[in-house]
Amino acid sequence: MIRTYTPADHTALVDLFARAGVDSPSGTLWEHLPSEQMVYLDPYIEHCPDTLFLAEVDGELVGYLTGCPDGALLPSEDDLMMRAIRQHKVTLRPRSMPFFLRALADAATAKLRGRELASGTDGDERWPAHLHINLVPEARGTGAAQGLMTAWQDWLTAAGSPGCHLQTLVENTRAVRFFEKSGFVAHGPTPLVPGVRHAGHRVHQQTMVWSPPAGSWP
Ligand SMILES: CC(C)(COP(=O)(O)OP(=O)(O)OC[C@H]1O[C@@H](n2cnc3c(N)ncnc32)[C@H](O)[C@@H]1OP(=O)(O)O)[C@@H](O)C(=O)NCCC(=O)NCCS
Repeated sequence: MIRTYTPADHTALVDLFARAGVDSPSGTLWEHLPSEQMVYLDPYIEHCPDTLFLAEVDGELVGYLTGCPDGALLPSEDDLMMRAIRQHKVTLRPRSMPFFLRALADAATAKLRGRELASGTDGDERWPAHLHINLVPEARGTGAAQGLMTAWQDWLTAAGSPGCHLQTLVENTRAVRFFEKSGFVAHGPTPLVPGVRHAGHRVHQQTMVWSPPAGSWP
């Protein structure tokens, strides 16, 4: 069943947030959930609860899609990240420190080579909406992700949104294929994501965009 968030879901959703990214190339950041939650979950609960879609099986939450109709509704991802990192002093945590040291090294290398690094959402007015989607491993390949995405795309179409973007990783091939099946297309460059590694390798940001079919506006 696909439905939207209610405050009664809060505890189960926070628990799901901790589990849903597992085994994904995007699943590990600086290894400190409370601060990662401040960037990738709390703002959506606070500012966009009506477009926070949940997938439920036998009364258990198995996946979520945090949809934001317009980036202007939220602080920027970079601001959220700085606030979370400062509040939790994560750069001083032994488990998180390797991430930040790698990020510094990646930034220095990129500067030397004159290359851009990945940053937060790009604010293009053609695709003002954005989303994050995560399912627990057991719910992947069951149609739950398609259910969440269809609910979000139907909402955007009914609301007359010009379009939606998302940021995934080139290396997250399953996610890229899923987004392509949902009508998203790759857009723009694929810069290095500082600090993040998957299976020991550097990863690259992939922006993808989707617009409601022409003539579907209400
Ligand atoms: C990325 C993610 C959301 C994609 O969801 P997914 O379910 O794995 O998507 P897939 O495209 O692999 O699976 C869809 C498959 O489900 C199956 N499926 C679809 N509808 C179905 C239904 N009604 N009943 C049963 N199976 C169904 C089909 O086999 C379908 O494949 P097909 O489109 O080739 O026919 C999910 O893998 C995930 O949460 N990954 C971890 C976190 C992550 O990477 N998030 C994205 C970060 S940007």
